[in-house]
Amino acid sequence: MIKPDAVAKGHTGEILALIEKHGFRFVAMKTKRISKPEAEAFYAIHREKPFFSGLVTFMTEGPVLVLVLERDEAIAKWREVMGATNPANAAEGTIRKLYAENIERNTVHGSDAADTAAQEIPFFFSTAELL
Ligand code: RTP
Ligand code: MG
Repeated sequence: MIKPDAVAKGHTGEILALIEKHGFRFVAMKTKRISKPEAEAFYAIHREKPFFSGLVTFMTEGPVLVLVLERDEAIAKWREVMGATNPANAAEGTIRKLYAENIERNTVHGSDAADTAAQEIPFFFSTAELL
């Protein structure tokens, strides 16, 4: 997902170009405004964390781009391309190093394992939307 900070700042195109450059194929993609209940459900794993309410406010502040990406080792590779959660710790050339403002407004989301991807993809896409 390309988060509201990056969409608002007009970085969507540059991030999509980086994604293609790293060998991912776009299986599905759409712009979307996430509702508060959707953000709470999507990040339910973080419900007890001190940053949860700020995270929900951030994720609902403006449109996002949701994507399904495919390549070999897609989850590990995408997390490498995103960079560390906190941009202060992100490696040079990563998306978060290039564009993120801080640990919360950090530009992109990625599934962290195959089972979370299997939950997150149907959260946003119907089977018919997956090419
Ligand atoms: P994501 O789930 O969005 O791909 O990010 P991640 O795995 O790198 O990080 P995670 O620990 O899952 O945290 C989810 C998102 O919550 C926000 N966050 N804020 N204020 C804070 O200390 C804090 N910590 C995390 C970030 O937007 C993070 O990506
Ligand atoms: Mg995460």
